[in-house]
Amino acid sequence: MPVGGGGAGRCVGQCAEDVTAYMLILPYADNGGDQGSPINASAQKTRVEAGRQLYGDNACSLCHKDDGSTTVLQGESTVYSLHNCPSCTRYDELVAAIGGTMPKGDDGEFGPASCSGDCAKKIADYIWVEYLDGTLTTKGGTLPKVAPVPGKNTLRIKSYESLKAHFSRVFGGENQTLEDSENAFKTIPDFWYIEHELGAVSLNIVANAAVEGCNSLVTQAASGNAEIRANCATWAESMWLRSATQDELNSCVNTATTITDQLNTALKRQQFACASMMMSIPALTF
Ligand code: HEC
Repeated sequence: MPVGGGGAGRCVGQCAEDVTAYMLILPYADNGGDQGSPINASAQKTRVEAGRQLYGDNACSLCHKDDGSTTVLQGESTVYSLHNCPSCTRYDELVAAIGGTMPKGDDGEFGPASCSGDCAKKIADYIWVEYLDGTLTTKGGTLPKVAPVPGKNTLRIKSYESLKAHFSRVFGGENQTLEDSENAFKTIPDFWYIEHELGAVSLNIVANAAVEGCNSLVTQAASGNAEIRANCATWAESMWLRSATQDELNSCVNTATTITDQLNTALKRQQFACASMMMSIPALTF
């Protein structure tokens, strides 16, 4: 990045490191000026409980669920998760967002028509502590500064488009199950900081697609455990873009040799072992 320009002006080295750090730390980077000092635990609890009450009274949970995790309304834009919303990084912005725009809907449709002033502040207290792990202070609130841990908690589920591309790279050509099921997949969120999701239905389609792909890839049963193990290793390279660990290989061989319920031929078992790798976390995330 940036693309184009034949590589001129590319952001490498320190530049790339700084931008990465900025993107990973962003939610915790800025407490928005002087926040005063932390208040004591029982005062914080009182404010949080008052906010919890208002959160329920003002029907916030109708759209944001009881636990603040997102749910998508028919015909509405994306409802942000209250664990990770654009205004969730600064206390004053959170209060302003609640007071200015929430609750959504026509007057009275979802309980009180507005929640501003003290109402917004109290609910912000609740969201801040319960959903964002923040601390309340005399002038607002602060968030913990958390350093990003490389390789941890950074997996992202692939979208429909990238799953299709991945399946075609692994199996060669179109996967009919995936092609026929686009509507079962959610659209890609508008912003990079909103997690993409696979639902139960789309996950089931991915499993069927993996079975379809593996049935065409594995047309002959390998004869012994060593050969099966070698196949498992090859599948990992193409499906996971990395080598399998010894444990993962053991488990692949195990699947290919021991499951007999419904998988009553060696070929079926090996096809299923292949599919089980294609429907696993390393294949479905990046
Ligand atoms: C009818 C559905 C609905 C109800 C009820 C509702 N919200 Fe929202 N909320 C949304 C939608 C949609 C968005 C994202 C779009 C937007 O911000 O305009 C959102 C966004 C938010 C955001 C993120 C704003 C930002 O820009 O970061 C906060 C915080 C929030 N809501 C809090 C609340 C609180 C607190 C309540 C209860 C007083 C509430 N919401 C009630 C639908 C709702």
